[in-house]
Amino acid sequence: MALLRVIDRDGQEHQVEGKTGYKVMETLRDLEYGVAAICGGMCSCATCHVYVDAGWLAQLPEPMSDERELLMELSHYQDNSRLSCQIEFTPALDGLRVTIAPDE
Ligand code: FES
Repeated sequence: MALLRVIDRDGQEHQVEGKTGYKVMETLRDLEYGVAAICGGMCSCATCHVYVDAGWLAQLPEPMSDERELLMELSHYQDNSRLSCQIEFTPALDGLRVTIAPDE
């Protein structure tokens, strides 16, 4: 099992199974403390916003321009912000650690 580590909005860390070949959002959406993902992964709602731990950030493909533009509009934007619907979980990401961003 590939591990996905998730920090919820209360600061509590959870270890869940990352689904290889699926977007990280699809795992987070199923969690009680996860993300809303209102647009279903169409890169238009930003309710799947997470912060990626610094050590993992460089291992992810660069965000496309539409993801980047949406992120920049968020009041809780940080340098390590990503939309989890734009991150495919691969075996190489075993152990990935993300923090669910506050609601906008
Ligand atoms: S689920 Fe809407 S932008 Fe990611």
